[in-house]
This record gives sequence, C-alpha cells and structure tokens, in this order.
Amino acid sequence: MGMLDGKVAIVTGAGRGIGREEALVLASQGAKVIVNDVGASLQGEGGDKHPAEEVVELIRAGGSDGAVNASDVSSWDGAKALVDQAIDTFGQLDILVNNAGILRDKMCFNMEESDWDDVIRVHLKGHFAPSHHAAVYWRGRAKAGEEVTGRIINTSSEAGLFGNAGQANYSSAKAGIASLTWVLARELGRYGITVNSISPRARTRMTENLFGEMAKADAGFDKFDPRNVAQLVTFLATDEAADISGQNFIVYGGDIWATGGFHPVGELHRDSMWTPEELAAAKGELFKNASSQVPPFSLS
Ligand SMILES: NC(=O)c1ccc[n+]([C@@H]2O[C@H](COP(=O)([O-])OP(=O)(O)OC[C@H]3O[C@@H](n4cnc5c(N)ncnc54)[C@H](O)[C@@H]3O)[C@@H](O)[C@H]2O)c1
Repeated sequence: MGMLDGKVAIVTGAGRGIGREEALVLASQGAKVIVNDVGASLQGEGGDKHPAEEVVELIRAGGSDGAVNASDVSSWDGAKALVDQAIDTFGQLDILVNNAGILRDKMCFNMEESDWDDVIRVHLKGHFAPSHHAAVYWRGRAKAGEEVTGRIINTSSEAGLFGNAGQANYSSAKAGIASLTWVLARELGRYGITVNSISPRARTRMTENLFGEMAKADAGFDKFDPRNVAQLVTFLATDEAADISGQNFIVYGGDIWATGGFHPVGELHRDSMWTPEELAAAKGELFKNASSQVPPFSLS
C-alpha cells in the first residue's frame, strides 16, 4: 500500500534534477505521474524529450504508470494541455507539483530585458498557468458535489525569501511564487485544495557550480541528493497533509524549516502622523531588536 495509491500527479520540469526525483518518489508511493519537461538547457533554450521519457520508463519499471508531456509550462495553452492530458490519460488529477525553472544569473546592471522576461515567465507564469487550469478543474468537481483533495506544491527558493545578489530576475520570481502560494491557499482552501511551497537545496545542474565541493564532501548521508527534497513534497501531496496549507519549507538533507510568512521585526505606534525628522529620531526604537541592514542570505 502506497500513501498515494489511486492518485494522479503532474510534476513540471520532471526530466531532471529535483523534479525527476519528485516524480519517482510520488510514483513509488502509488501515484500515476505526468512527467512534464520541455528538456531545455539551464538557460531555457532547446528541447529534448529523452530525459522525461527515461523518467516514465523508470516509473513503469517501478510498478506505477506515467506519461510524458512536453508542454512549455509558461504557455497558457500548453499548461491547459498538460492538465487535460492528466485527466484524459488517467481519469483525474489530484496533485500538481510546479517545479520547472531556468536560470539567467547576472548583476542588475548587466541584465538584459530578455533575461528578466524569460526567467519571470518560466517561473512565475509557469507556476500560475498550470495552477489556474488545475483550479478550474478542481473547483468544477467540488461544485458538482465531488470530494476534492487537490494538492499544489510550488517551488520557491531561499533566493526569493532572502534575496540573492546576481539573481534579480530569479529572486523576484521566487518571492512571487511564495506570495502566489499564500494567495492560492486562501482562494482554494474552501474547495479541498492545499497549496504549499518548498525552498530546496539540492545538487543539480542548476547548483553544481554553486555547491561544488561542499556538496560532494560528505561521504556518508548525501545531504544534497535531490531525493531528500522529494520526500517532503510527496508527504505534502498525501491526505495526511490535509491540514497544512499556505506554508513554505526550506528543505535539504535531513533538515526542514517551516518558514511561515514575513514577520514584523520591530514596530512603532501612535495616533498621529510621523514626520521624517521624528522617524529619524525613532529609528533606534523601530530596530531595537533587529538589524536595520539587509538580513543574512540564509538560515545556515
Ligand atoms: N537545485 C537547488 O538547489 C534549488 C534551489 C532552490 C530552488 N530550486 C528550484 O527547484 C526547481 C528545479 O530545479 P533543478 O535544480 O532541479 O534544475 P534542473 O535544471 O535540473 O531542472 C529544471 C527542469 O525544468 C525544465 N524546464 C525548464 N523550463 C521549462 C518550461 N518552460 N516548461 C517545462 N519544463 C521546463 C528543464 O528542462 C529541466 O529539466 C527550479 O524551480 C529551481 O529554481 C532549486
């Protein structure tokens, strides 16, 4: 008995990296999986179906079922075709893991318009478009009186939560995805749908230069194996996670932080208007328990 027997999942960008492991672990718990991937380069160029086909073969070899989908998730029609394929092929959709992404890292003064537009489009619209079409489907089922246990698991990043130099486009998209997660969780909870996001760390082509030797140093437990991340995502997809929504999780190795949302770090209150001079005098009070400088990039 798997925790996801009888469920149907979509994982976007599942031909490689974290998405690949998510598709395999979801399938190992009994889910049938639509393995979406355009097979793009890290920068979002080109297309190759082979990685996604290989993942489907592995899913079938493991005893579950799957199908390839090569839609660009940032295309409105492509995202609809993706959701439709799950319903047409396996009769339903229960789980949507939005994971596909690209990188075009540059400092803000070197960034080209296309670097900004493409990264925001693939990540942010590439999360919203499949979520929209899945929400239309689930809301329709709920309104028809069916019981819905929809799951959306988004992929944010610590770059979005803390802001990473060199990633204005990517960090903005990932912060948008964190915020989108809260909005979707608020809008869709009444239909039986939970919406959460993860901010993972894992060794993939996206991070092999960043983590480099650090990721290879530990000969024991492989903390940077993307399969670690896939376990949390799979749990969030189960019925046991029905009471978790609107949350973000930093996750890597055996470490998981539930980060909640933005929190106040200081406050000022009075029943009259502040002047800039008065605020200059009061800033010490506002930041008495926290630094007024940009916070550190990550938790550890
Ligand atoms: N690896 C990390 O440590 C890390 C950290 C934070 C966030 N993330 C996020 O995790 C997700 C997966 O990243 P990864 O490290 O596995 O990268 P990856 O490059 O190995 O995999 C991304 C996959 O997305 C696919 N893809 C790209 N554009 C697409 C599109 N328009 N439609 C469909 N598929 C598309 C690519 O072909 C690729 O297979 C991304 O959203 C990334 O931003 C990763």
